[in-house]
Amino acid sequence: MKIGLLGDIHANLEALEVCLQKLVDEECDYVMATGDIVGYGPQPQECLDRIIELEIHSVRGNHDEYVIEQTPLLAINPHAKYVIEWTRSQLDEKYLEYLRKLPDVIDAKDFLITHASNSRAPKWGYVLNESSALTNFNRQTRRICFNGHTHVPMIFSQDPDGQVKMEEFTSTYTLNPELRYLINVGSVGQPRDKNPKTMSVTFDTETSELKIFRMDYDISKVQAAMLKNKFPARLLARLEEGR
Ligand SMILES: [Fe+2]
Repeated sequence: MKIGLLGDIHANLEALEVCLQKLVDEECDYVMATGDIVGYGPQPQECLDRIIELEIHSVRGNHDEYVIEQTPLLAINPHAKYVIEWTRSQLDEKYLEYLRKLPDVIDAKDFLITHASNSRAPKWGYVLNESSALTNFNRQTRRICFNGHTHVPMIFSQDPDGQVKMEEFTSTYTLNPELRYLINVGSVGQPRDKNPKTMSVTFDTETSELKIFRMDYDISKVQAAMLKNKFPARLLARLEEGR
């Protein structure tokens, strides 16, 4: 079975459409998402419509949660906060209810999907190095897990002695059956690995082959929609910087 994976879509419809087309071309049987469908980007409703109509299973990310919480956003950076508050004003009850029902974890038996880390403390912790990956592996209940949150595609593996290795995820990679894995599928809508191209991932459960695809999309069209809604300039710039 071939699974398509979408990381942090962040309300970027232009990037999402390019990624969805790629997963169709790759003949994926299912498409799943690692959360943060909304936030940062200008088309939350349109992106949610696509996820809902295509029956893409997603976990809930921190931005999805901030939008539904309706509480003051005290510890969030002001740029993200502006868009979360704007997103709250854009989504009607149907979409909020959808976000409320998203699970924290999907257990697909062959693999797990979570947004940030399987270690839930701190909440929404970033797995960016071997030590935070080790904390994750101590709580990871399946051999393979896909996540997002950092917006940087990355492969963490753990050998039977518990040693953790961190590798960049830039092309095709075949999983070793002796190792455990945490695979960060990066971000569709706001890449942060200094490469502005959008990305989607496929995983073949029979061959254990992972592939990442990097693709151009119309960034200027997204920026125009952001500008129209008075989004902070930094958020427009980071899309073309990829960070
Ligand atoms: Fe995110």
